[in-house]
Order: sequence, then structure tokens, then C-alpha cells
Amino acid sequence: MYVCLCKAVTDKAIKQKVAEGVSTMRELKMCTGLGSQCGKCTCQAQQILHTELVNI
Ligand code: FES
Repeated sequence: MYVCLCKAVTDKAIKQKVAEGVSTMRELKMCTGLGSQCGKCTCQAQQILHTELVNI
């Protein structure tokens, strides 16, 4: 499922980034470009990031 439509970032891509060591929204934004246009996706992206971090 797409989380960020502007930058075509999926939940899978976010999970993959966490597996590669990303642990903050800042890092996630830097490496995917997520949230850099309309910003509507940041809340959902943050939730996915936190859920993934808890599950590592
Ligand atoms: Fe992510 Fe617009 S949906 S910046």
C-alpha cells in the first residue's frame, strides 16, 4: 500500500528502511523523500515507523 503518494513510498519500503537501520522520521524522510511535498503522509509514516521499531 502506498503511504506517500507524492513520492510513491509504500509501507513495505518503510519497513525495509527500518530493517536497514533507519530509526527516525528525519532519516526516513531523507532517504525516501517521503513527506517532502504535501506532507499528508507523515502521520501514517510515523505510525508505521514506530510499529516497526517496537517489533525489531
Ligand atoms: Fe507524502 Fe504528499 S503524500 S508528501
